[in-house]
Amino acid sequence: MISKLSFLLLLLPTLLLAASPFPRGSKIKAATADFQAARMRSAQGAGSGALLSSSKRYEGSSDLVHLRYHMGPVLSSPINLYLIWYGPWPAAHRATLRDFLLSLSDPSPPPPSAAQWWSTVALYSDQTGANVSRRVSVAAEAHLRGLPRGASLTRLGVQLVIADALASGSLPVDHGRGAYLVLTSPGVAVQDFCRAACGFHYFTFPSLVGHTLPYAWVGHSGVQCPDVCAYPFAVPTYMTGVGAMRPPNGDVGVDGMVSVLAHELAELSTNPLVNAWYAGEDPTAPTEIADLCEGVYGTGGGGGYTGQVSKDELGRSYNLNGRNGRKFLVQWVWSPIVKACRGPNAMD
Ligand SMILES: *[C@@H]1O[C@H](CO)[C@@H](O)[C@H](O)[C@H]1NC(C)=O
Repeated sequence: MISKLSFLLLLLPTLLLAASPFPRGSKIKAATADFQAARMRSAQGAGSGALLSSSKRYEGSSDLVHLRYHMGPVLSSPINLYLIWYGPWPAAHRATLRDFLLSLSDPSPPPPSAAQWWSTVALYSDQTGANVSRRVSVAAEAHLRGLPRGASLTRLGVQLVIADALASGSLPVDHGRGAYLVLTSPGVAVQDFCRAACGFHYFTFPSLVGHTLPYAWVGHSGVQCPDVCAYPFAVPTYMTGVGAMRPPNGDVGVDGMVSVLAHELAELSTNPLVNAWYAGEDPTAPTEIADLCEGVYGTGGGGGYTGQVSKDELGRSYNLNGRNGRKFLVQWVWSPIVKACRGPNAMD
């Protein structure tokens, strides 16, 4: 959610040993330090040949992860998403991202589907016994092509973009069900983008926006830092010999955003006010349900290996089916039932 320890720095010794790319989804950050340290120890102690077994242990570990409920609410009412396209966005790219969001509660695509992926998120409940809703819809959209707040946003500036959309009446204030998503176009710089974050979620402040509303920001990294934020569709140049995967919808930046958006939405729904589901003792640096599974897209994933995913007839990698015949590659999330990272393309 908020940048913290660098995932890259913590993982680098493991990577150098294992000579494989590091997993990064939405944020370059670590899980709890002891969790990461244990992960590094297991990989280092066993040598490079143990990558898979250590990953399996990571994937299946319950003893190292202390995900806890902190008494706050989850998004249990049907979720109304409000999209703010900030900067110029081609219609085709908006359609890919919108189709992903609409797939989250669409039962028709064949398994493994995006709706099945969301069903793991819907396993989280709050102290009233209400689960995260399985119903996710796009309620309204605003397209701010002209960059009214400029081409470089601070973190608080993202809230001002939402404030503008509400004040102008482009989007309604939806207290019961609303979640606001700010999606910045390729040329927009955002504070910490590409360095400490590829996306984040939080809630708006009454002093800036007039209301407390859950929101997330995700940036298109295609131009600025695909090797940081659109992994595994781009890999860092120093990782010679590691091939990038082909993006299922043909755009590295947009397909990379899909997984980051999924990551943020899963966390926003299970921890909207940052007082519900997270691991770690520090609420300013919570480790949430998607943070625990960064870089894991299939069985065996972790420690720099995506895990087993599928390829379509054009060689494009995916692990979820969505609406309109689309395919997506989305990281797994932590399941409170099996106490491991889980996705509908699991082999076991
Ligand atoms: C609600 O959450 C509980 C606890 O994780 C789970 O057992 C139950 O299956 C969930 N219900 C739905 C409809 O997902």
